[in-house]
Amino acid sequence: QEDVFKKLVSHCKEYGFVFPSSDIYDGLGAVYDYGQMGVELKNNIKKYWWDSMVLLHENIVGIDSAIFMHPTIWKASGHVDAFNDPLIDNKDSKKRYRADVLVEDQLAKYDEKIDKEVKKAAKRFGDAFDEEQFRATNPRVLANQEKRDALHERFAKALNDNDLTELRQIIVDEEIVCPISGTRNWTEVRQFNLMFSTEMGSTAESAMKVYLRPETAQGIFVNYMNVQKSGRMKIPFGIAQIGKAFRNEIVARQFIFRMREFEQMEMQFFVRPGSELEWFEMWKAQRLKWHENLGLGHENYRFHDHDKLAHYANAATDIEYLMPFGFKEVEGIHSRTDFDLSQHEKFSGKSIKYFDPELNKSYVPYVVETSIGLDRMFLSIMAGSFCEEELENGSRVVLKLPAALAPVKLAVLPLVKKDGLPEKAREIIDDLKFHFNCQYDEKDSIGKRYRRQDAIGTPYCITVDHDSLKDNCVTLRNRDTMEQERVAIADLNNIIADRVSI
Ligand code: GAP
Repeated sequence: QEDVFKKLVSHCKEYGFVFPSSDIYDGLGAVYDYGQMGVELKNNIKKYWWDSMVLLHENIVGIDSAIFMHPTIWKASGHVDAFNDPLIDNKDSKKRYRADVLVEDQLAKYDEKIDKEVKKAAKRFGDAFDEEQFRATNPRVLANQEKRDALHERFAKALNDNDLTELRQIIVDEEIVCPISGTRNWTEVRQFNLMFSTEMGSTAESAMKVYLRPETAQGIFVNYMNVQKSGRMKIPFGIAQIGKAFRNEIVARQFIFRMREFEQMEMQFFVRPGSELEWFEMWKAQRLKWHENLGLGHENYRFHDHDKLAHYANAATDIEYLMPFGFKEVEGIHSRTDFDLSQHEKFSGKSIKYFDPELNKSYVPYVVETSIGLDRMFLSIMAGSFCEEELENGSRVVLKLPAALAPVKLAVLPLVKKDGLPEKAREIIDDLKFHFNCQYDEKDSIGKRYRRQDAIGTPYCITVDHDSLKDNCVTLRNRDTMEQERVAIADLNNIIADRVSI
């Protein structure tokens, strides 16, 4: 699986999906650029999300708020005081680590040891192997399980109590070593705020510290009154937004999974106090359906309900996708109570109450949020679509992207570069390019051209041959089945439009 992931990362670069930022300067940690194919895929994901939220729900509207916001917003939201990661440095390598991630890796090591024992025994006993029985009785498995459970309990308590001394003690007691220096020479654990800051203002005296937003949600909260009043919105209603967010992540790994500059697609749904848990369940179901509708396999998604809730939440779950490095969070659904709006009411001194004509009373609305990382969504789709296939006459790498999201929908390929075929192909493109993204390619053999389109996930290719000049038909090739059919040029628009819609 690690191997597949490496191949996927290099495929993304080779075919113009994702490049390391500042590549000719050897990159910038955890920052990436989207290339000519990547930007199309990303735009299609945004459209799929935006249409499902804003177009299909009469009571959800969109906004686009600024990245810079009044600094007091981040005080009110709790980000200035509490948006922290616990950090520890190794004194020998001078490398910086997230203390909680070091412990999580240690927990994973116990799991690996247990899995290894189970796999070994399964091989030895073959069909007669009873895994449950083995796990319940094998002394080595039991010993590791006991150590793992004890560590897990201690770790959860340390996090819950925000006890940095205990977190460090766990690292010491578990004899965790720095992966670079191999030593256990650690500093204290300290809190590190994840927000980037800069200064705004033209003179030194008037300069004010401002933050790059670490989530888009606060832009929605502080515009709640503007939208509700100007749009005459009635509760329940939602506000959706797509935009950049920034976090100074310490452990930046797994490609575009954890970035310092990334994009979020968030929707805050404002509801009557007391009804929030019903809405939470509704959004949970709707969001999973949205993911599953892409056709990447139901078995690749799961919920991860949170036992430990942030102080402002009364329910929270993640939708996880099976990435090449395990099940990972792609989207969070949170019941955030009235925490954010009440805090902004307190810090701004302005009333953020809603008058409910049905109840004949005013209240601060409760909020159910759906928050998805666009880049993680992108990664899940790429990982779910990337296939290496053995064919009778060789092999191919194909991106089986959901057709609606594919960067290029149709490649138009003249069989040869002469006899009027390129002109005919251009005519077809000129007609279709207003409806979907088409690509023209006349270079190399038809087989090679098919492979290039497979590699960028183009769902359909048409070949213009000599007969096309006479019968006004072309050969339409399906990316996944590689089957070909003869279709009339006049029908192409309808056929493709029909097959690439969600
Ligand atoms: N407004 C709620 C919020 O921001 P979050 O769980 O911190 O909640 C929401 O983030 C989503 O944003 C995550 O599920 C993930 O998909 C994405 N995300 C968060 N940090 C990220 C990072 N460093 N790189 C890429 N995506 C990230």
